[in-house]
Amino acid sequence: MEGELDVSGSKNASLPIIAATILNKGTTVIQNVPEIRDVKMMCSILESLGCKITKEEGTLIVDAKSIINSEIPDDLMHEMRSSVIIAGALLGRLHECKFTYPGGCEIGSRPINLHLEGFKQLGVGIDEANGFIKCECEKLIGTEIVLDFPSVGATENIMLASCLAEGTTYIKNVAREPEIRNLQDFLNAMGANVAGAGSNTIVIKGVKTLHDAEFSIIPDRIEAGTYLCMAAATKGDVKLNHVNAEHLSSVIHKLKQMNCKIGFSKNSIYLKVPRELIGTNIKTMPYPGFPTDMQSQFVTLLTLARGTSIVVENIFENRYKYVNELIKMGANITIEGKAAIIQGVPKLSPANLEAKELRGGAALIMAALTAEGESKVTGIEYVERGYENLVKKLTIVGAKIQKA
Ligand code: EPZ
Repeated sequence: MEGELDVSGSKNASLPIIAATILNKGTTVIQNVPEIRDVKMMCSILESLGCKITKEEGTLIVDAKSIINSEIPDDLMHEMRSSVIIAGALLGRLHECKFTYPGGCEIGSRPINLHLEGFKQLGVGIDEANGFIKCECEKLIGTEIVLDFPSVGATENIMLASCLAEGTTYIKNVAREPEIRNLQDFLNAMGANVAGAGSNTIVIKGVKTLHDAEFSIIPDRIEAGTYLCMAAATKGDVKLNHVNAEHLSSVIHKLKQMNCKIGFSKNSIYLKVPRELIGTNIKTMPYPGFPTDMQSQFVTLLTLARGTSIVVENIFENRYKYVNELIKMGANITIEGKAAIIQGVPKLSPANLEAKELRGGAALIMAALTAEGESKVTGIEYVERGYENLVKKLTIVGAKIQKA
């Protein structure tokens, strides 16, 4: 891969921020929103609740004046688990919401106990029956909430539910991802009073009402990291624009350990691989540790690196499903519990591959780009959930790729 790529707005910042627009009985404008399937689904859910949304080329204008429904549609809930984030916004706005259990997916059981415990502590009554969860309360009362685990979704959901609560909410042991800071900045742009994102405690002082705002989504650090891995895997020479390198420090650290040469200028990152890639070890951890969303891309990259590498997946219990597809291409990977043990091989052979989830699917496309000959990857609708204009962007940097 050779050339320059523009990174899009962050999927994982866009989804909670779009949900948060429900809290304002007015209009909010959000810029730099990626045009991907998950964003389309989130917008459809908001429209089913009564919002009017206009899309102009990466900008969303959300009119949330009249929310007439507090039930998240089942089909969209199953299709996209992160829809659960709307519950916190509906509770903040209407003091009620109803949804089906999001259920597990290809990477794990994805429970929401921490979300529900947080709601209960804010005074919400929760009734779970026949697969439905019904939440309601007279009012939301600020309190101190300690998360057993720094869950991204639980942190975001409790932030949304407590913005308009009476009193102050302290959330401890929160997730510290950059997307949490982006959500805090958006809520404050609407007149909320949230502080502490990026630290391990977030403090939300309840306010009476919010107002219209205009806001821009941060760059997608996982999309950027994915393209850096693809450039490294194909021994390319690539420059990524619209990137915040600070959000990628643990990823950049690992790429340097693997012998990638990386340079920085204003909002860009350059990557070159002088000779061969060298293996390393990785443990996925909550931010600022190494991101689980980059695990499959790095296992694939390490497959082509010299030596033996060990990757430990500490966040999700079932995030190696793509490995069998890599083995079909000649990869030498053994899974032992949470660990993937990877022996580097000189190259991978083309094969017919099946993507079953977003990041594993991106990793398979990366593997196919390195193999001499034609590979076919099915299930790319999973990949299109999180990567805007993937085929177009890869073609710009010389990949021979087309959508059948
Ligand atoms: C967010 O998912 C991201 N999704 C995920 O990205 C990301 O992998 C994950 O955070 C971790 O960084 C979005 O932001 C839309 P968690 P989320 O709650 O919020 C357990 C991608 O590829 N847990 O931090 O669901 C859970 O089982 C996606 O873009 C509980 O036990 O992640 C998991 O093991 C995939 N109880 C761990 O915490 C709960 O109530 C991390 O989950 C909630 C979570």
